[in-house]
Amino acid sequence: MKNILITGGAGFIGSHVVRLFVKKYPEYHIINLDKLTYAGNLANLKDIENEPNYTFVKADICDYERMTELFQQYDIDGVIHLAAESHVDRSIKDPFTFARTNVMGTLSLLQAAKLHWNGDWNGKRFYHISTDEVYGALELTNPEGIEPPFTTTASSGEHHLAYGADFFYETTKYDPHSPYSASKASSDHFVRAYHDTYGMPTIITNCSNNYGPYQFPEKLIPLFINNIRQQKPLPVYGKGENVRDWLYVEDHARAIDVIFHNGKVADTYNIGGFNEWKNIDLIKVIIKTVDRLLGNPEGHSLGLITYVTDRAGHDLRYAIDSTKLQRELGWEPSLQFEEGIEKTVRWYLDNQEWMDNITSGEYEKYYEEMYKVQI
Ligand code: NAD
Ligand code: TYD
Repeated sequence: MKNILITGGAGFIGSHVVRLFVKKYPEYHIINLDKLTYAGNLANLKDIENEPNYTFVKADICDYERMTELFQQYDIDGVIHLAAESHVDRSIKDPFTFARTNVMGTLSLLQAAKLHWNGDWNGKRFYHISTDEVYGALELTNPEGIEPPFTTTASSGEHHLAYGADFFYETTKYDPHSPYSASKASSDHFVRAYHDTYGMPTIITNCSNNYGPYQFPEKLIPLFINNIRQQKPLPVYGKGENVRDWLYVEDHARAIDVIFHNGKVADTYNIGGFNEWKNIDLIKVIIKTVDRLLGNPEGHSLGLITYVTDRAGHDLRYAIDSTKLQRELGWEPSLQFEEGIEKTVRWYLDNQEWMDNITSGEYEKYYEEMYKVQI
């Protein structure tokens, strides 16, 4: 396989995947296709933009004609599809854009790949990156009066701290709640349909919440780091009781590499770090870390916590069981959470220019509009 199309490569996760592939596989030609929406930022890829095996193409995945031309022009062998609208709050305000990009855009890519590959599936692969949010929400449970988090045993036999007895497995029924997760679920179904109907060699992975450098600061972790730095309020939705399972973004990129090369065609893999955090506890860790690195006294920024109206349809708990991936392909997360969050906070504090370039202009207007409603 030589010519790899990575969509959404100027976004958060995509930029880590592009960087990994460009550096690790000089024999591949990596074509990064991105529309450069508000979330796409070529500054995320400054360090590799002049590499000889890298090409950037600005295009919209919904533009089917353009997609068919690009498949032909670059003779694409493999696709790693990350381009999407990715933020739940935006999907609540503007679901149409999510259906357009996530559903119709994915369909347009699938059809362009089908046309170009023309039934010769040898050495071809269409890898679709999805989310654990398609599985819906899990309960917070408190068995025999033990306060969560408590130790549970995953299907691998390993022990982990968890806020409930259930996990998302590859076999868990889809039950999306937000327009974002509904659009991702729909795109997953289209990808499976292209395998089942036409025989296209597809793979899907469903990953938990990612964190790390280059994440757009509308998502919890970079937003809160930046607000603490500027001593602005930290809007906690509801009571801060919701639980998310966090994975360092480079570990996700490594998993994508392993699965792209060794995953079983037509299969699904869950990716997660067995790393559940209640939002409010995570927020306190972020505050403590930022305060320490800025030289503030401990507890200095706790007063910025501001409880705001809950997100509509806010899923209570996500928790991935990634045993299958660990067992079958030998992947496991490389970073402990403490190490990952320290690296992440340091990165945002050391790269204030990157953050300031994003948070000025259009973004500022959006942010004011968004939080005028909620605070
Ligand atoms: P992101 O919003 O940071 O980046 C998305 C990228 O897609 C941007 O560069 C944007 O310009 C591009 N894009 C959007 N619409 C496009 C279009 N019509 N045509 C071409 N490019 C377009 O998102 P992310 O957090 O990096 O997520 C990447 C993928 O991973 C998404 O498919 C998302 O559903 C999935 N995912 C994300 C997470 C997470 O925690 N962030 C977890 C699991 C899965
Ligand atoms: P987010 O980063 O938007 O990811 P997702 O909704 O895909 O899980 O949010 C993570 C959690 O943090 C989620 O439970 C919502 C909550 N949250 C807040 O409490 N305040 C905020 O300002 C944001 C952006 C999120």
